[in-house]
Amino acid sequence: MASGAPGPSAAGAADAVRDAPAVPAGPPGAPEGPEPREIPGSRDSRDLPGPPEDRDLPGSPEDREWSLDELAEAYAYPAAARARPWLRANMVTSLDGAAQHEGRSQPISSATDMRIFGTLRALADVVVVGAETVRLEGYRPARAREAFAERRAAAGQGPAPAIAVVSASLDLDFTAPLFTAPLVPTLLLTGAGAPPERVRAAERAGAVVVLAGDGAGVDPARVPEALAARGLTRQLTEGGPRLLGQWVAAGVLDELCLTVSPLLTAGDAQRIAGGPGLAVPARFALVSVLEEEGFLYTRYGRI
Ligand SMILES: NC(=O)c1ccc[n+]([C@@H]2O[C@H](COP(=O)([O-])OP(=O)(O)OC[C@H]3O[C@@H](n4cnc5c(N)ncnc54)[C@H](OP(=O)(O)O)[C@@H]3O)[C@@H](O)[C@H]2O)c1
Repeated sequence: MASGAPGPSAAGAADAVRDAPAVPAGPPGAPEGPEPREIPGSRDSRDLPGPPEDRDLPGSPEDREWSLDELAEAYAYPAAARARPWLRANMVTSLDGAAQHEGRSQPISSATDMRIFGTLRALADVVVVGAETVRLEGYRPARAREAFAERRAAAGQGPAPAIAVVSASLDLDFTAPLFTAPLVPTLLLTGAGAPPERVRAAERAGAVVVLAGDGAGVDPARVPEALAARGLTRQLTEGGPRLLGQWVAAGVLDELCLTVSPLLTAGDAQRIAGGPGLAVPARFALVSVLEEEGFLYTRYGRI
């Protein structure tokens, strides 16, 4: 193993609890959990940098929590993402495949999951999310985080990623901070057939409407390029499952950062990707795995 814990400290962690309102930040120096183990992956996925043991991370990793800087190194977008869109998804699942419990993903998440979630956000140019997740969870704009400021500036990125909401109906609360008070204007990805009065309401609120479909909705295959055309190539999608299923079906998902939480929920929760199935399952390769307190923080790349 070459690296230490992703670390359970919630201090400065996420912009939101996945799809939920912000988690209370833990005090700096909050007690740490057991050390995680890293299990190297098969490394044969396209373009992705290897697990952190190849990165000469400082120090003896086994006895300390990773800094946010080290996490950012470990989850850095590949060089290819500078020249073309790179769509990464970040999701959490229970052992039995539930993507939520009682309608939220927070109960199946963890503080370390949130720390990684926040890091992935901090590395992205844009966070793409389905309208239902925004509606259910009261999504807020991404915030600027001091810990990542230098890294973002060096990468030519603004202080925070833009949030891009995918919606056909545009039935969203345009008085919410997501639209009225973001650091960078919130994008609305929709189709040419979106209700014109809702388009006007969105634009009045300060949102930037981006058409990526000829009908009411978005053609998921067009979204990565539509965002890249605006200079947003380092893309992160946070679901939800109906949206993730469409990225998968369109064959545009490059990478999946999946947290497997050691919980069983039974019931009828959605799994992380829904919608029509693929004729032939898409094959991904394991890039890296971190383990802490029974949670697996996996990273898979498209082959
Ligand atoms: N486990 C996890 O990591 C995770 C992550 C995120 C969310 N969740 C959970 O997932 C649930 C919500 O997810 P969900 O799958 O029901 O919904 P979702 O994917 O968040 O959003 C679905 C909505 O997105 C819009 N949309 C999707 N595809 C579109 C297209 N091609 N064109 C235009 N608009 C499109 C539509 O909005 P309009 O109706 O406005 O047209 C649709 O109703 C919540 O329970 C949340 O807790 C879990």
